[in-house]
Amino acid sequence: MNEKYAVVTGATSGIGLQIARGIAATGYNTIIVARDQEKARLARQEIESVSTGNTRVHIEIADLASLDSIEALATRIISQFPQTSLLVNNAGIIVLKKKLSKDGIEMNLAVNHLAPFLLTWRLLPLLRQHPGARVVNVNSNAHEKAKLQESDLEPTSLFDSMGAYGQSKLASMFTTLELARLVPPAEVTFNAVHPGMVATNIGKVGGLMELVGILLRPFMLTPKKGADTALWASTAPELAGVTGRYYEKRAVSQTNPLLQDAHLAKVVWQKTLKMARLNEFQLLPQPFQPVG
Ligand SMILES: NC(=O)c1ccc[n+]([C@@H]2O[C@H](COP(=O)([O-])OP(=O)(O)OC[C@H]3O[C@@H](n4cnc5c(N)ncnc54)[C@H](OP(=O)(O)O)[C@@H]3O)[C@@H](O)[C@H]2O)c1
Repeated sequence: MNEKYAVVTGATSGIGLQIARGIAATGYNTIIVARDQEKARLARQEIESVSTGNTRVHIEIADLASLDSIEALATRIISQFPQTSLLVNNAGIIVLKKKLSKDGIEMNLAVNHLAPFLLTWRLLPLLRQHPGARVVNVNSNAHEKAKLQESDLEPTSLFDSMGAYGQSKLASMFTTLELARLVPPAEVTFNAVHPGMVATNIGKVGGLMELVGILLRPFMLTPKKGADTALWASTAPELAGVTGRYYEKRAVSQTNPLLQDAHLAKVVWQKTLKMARLNEFQLLPQPFQPVG
């Protein structure tokens, strides 16, 4: 009986589908998180075609733009799949026009930053029970030159589509690194990856962005190639105990210099907790020390 369980978000298309295929092929029971039941069913069929006879693909339906839905998802995973030792936060979006989630949070920030943070946070007690557990966040090189001010974490800031996407990915890098600092790497590691420029659905949002995407498509990676670094970060034995890294093409890559700003790191951490409806008293169990 195979006891390895992995959770992959956004596994219905693009990079996430290929990550889930690769993880299942290495023998993990794979829990795919999706917002659409029919897409999830098709993804499961495809993933099961490569998985070994003794692994299973499970579907969990959740809207990662909703904090309630993420909380419910985490509760189900904890009760049904307590052996989970790998979490790949892959789901992501770009929105062309400013939109708020039902929790009143700018949509890029809600899906690309808060969702992976809250899901990780809720699953952390479970992950810590499996020494060597890993969290891999699919980030983006859009974070590398992004600007982020305190006000950008509020829903009132002016909107620029790629700017907001980059900010959400930079906010996610901040909390990925902070978790890596707080949690002993022998328990859980936290790393982020840039998949490259990959031909997926993410840019199919209409307008100029979609047109540019069509023109660039011949130069883009296939989703399978785009999944390679995330898969490697998820499963490579040589990365056991390695935490707080950002990888591209299986190599450590340059992060945004703003990540060195301790004050901004503290602000992002505290605002993230607030937006995710977590309070300081629910912070990581002993012996962790929160930032600042
Ligand atoms: N493609 C690139 O060039 C590129 C470059 C850098 C980073 N990335 C990152 O790679 C990751 C995967 O993106 P992709 O390029 O593979 O895009 P994609 O094909 O659009 O896949 C995105 C996945 O996220 C899911 N998703 C989006 N919003 C969701 C929500 N509210 N609740 C649940 N699931 C949701 C989508 O579900 P549906 O199928 O239902 O839409 C889909 O499964 C993202 O984090 C993205 O930022 C991509």
